Amino acid sequence: MTTRQVLRMGHPLLLEQSHPVAEFNTSSLQTLIQDMRDTMLAEDGAGIAAPQIGVLLRVVMFELVDNPRYPKEAEVPFTILINPEIEPLSERQSLGWEGCLSVPGLRGRVARYDDIRYRGYNPQGQWFEREVSGFHARVVQHECDHLDGVLYPQRITDLRQFGFKEELAAEIGC
Ligand code: NI
Repeated sequence: MTTRQVLRMGHPLLLEQSHPVAEFNTSSLQTLIQDMRDTMLAEDGAGIAAPQIGVLLRVVMFELVDNPRYPKEAEVPFTILINPEIEPLSERQSLGWEGCLSVPGLRGRVARYDDIRYRGYNPQGQWFEREVSGFHARVVQHECDHLDGVLYPQRITDLRQFGFKEELAAEIGC
């Protein structure tokens, strides 16, 4: 098990554009995925993107099963998504609270599309797509933003709804 250090907001790599994965079934991709998973689990994250551990490749993963950081949200199956594309299925957006392993201790309320279709490769190089809503859709949009150098605080429109988790506990419900 290899837990990697998660880069925090302010680190310049988090603002970079990541590159598509060109080769699947390689040991370096395998190692990257294993390190991301170990790091995500160690930090109780709902998701992680490769640039958060300093690797500028378009790889994200997410999972929400009994996560103490998000006690109220519906479950999201463990998914590895490579070279992702996101298509909103309607214009409808909702505000919701988000956190990020690169922004420890804080939460902010961000608008995201309610319903999306996402597509990408799995680690074996097979293309797949899903239509999802709600928290699942939110997590995918958050993680894919990392691949374009965007952290959720950049998307907060009302900065009064940004603060420390403990202070916001009544609002967030955890
Ligand atoms: Ni994040």
